[in-house]
Amino acid sequence: WPQGVLALLFGYVLGSIPFGLLLTRFAGLGDIRQIGSGNIGATNVLRTGNKALAAATLLGDMLKGALAVILVEDFAGRDVALYAALGAFLGHLFPVWLQFRGGKGVATFIGCLVGLAPVAALAFAAIWLITALIYRYSSLAALAASAATPVVLWETGQGKVAVLYCILGALLWYKHRGNIARLATKTEPRIGEKKQG
Ligand code: G3P
Repeated sequence: WPQGVLALLFGYVLGSIPFGLLLTRFAGLGDIRQIGSGNIGATNVLRTGNKALAAATLLGDMLKGALAVILVEDFAGRDVALYAALGAFLGHLFPVWLQFRGGKGVATFIGCLVGLAPVAALAFAAIWLITALIYRYSSLAALAASAATPVVLWETGQGKVAVLYCILGALLWYKHRGNIARLATKTEPRIGEKKQG
């Protein structure tokens, strides 16, 4: 398991790179944590009105997860790569550089999944898209797709990854507790709409 600890740390360092915060800062848009929901993810970067920057945030936050998993899997095998995925996800949610106040994990959740189980990642993307097209809530789409992910993994014979994704899913839902409350009271803004945090 020392390999597991190393993989966890490596994943954490990669995962803790806050692309949304860095990209909006470099673009001169100020501190993303002062805008919209205050979250550092792509959904909130979209509230700045800069679609390219939102897409780059999504890609960066996905890639860091995928990269952590793929690199560690190459060096140390699949089981150790699960620790890299956990590390990357925790790094995004609780980055030491931001006093442990990170993002909500959607892009990194799917990024790690691309590396671990591409078919399940496709299923996640499909459920996210369909839910988002129907309801136009980014949070609801992520909640639905993340809940379905362990089931898809289990049904496709990826038991260990399914267990990991139960944990990641629970953390993702916890981080969305504010969104869940707003969905329940119908005050959650739809995709692209602005809001106060
Ligand atoms: O699941 C999407 C999540 O990132 C919502 O972000 O900014 O609407 O809280 P936000």
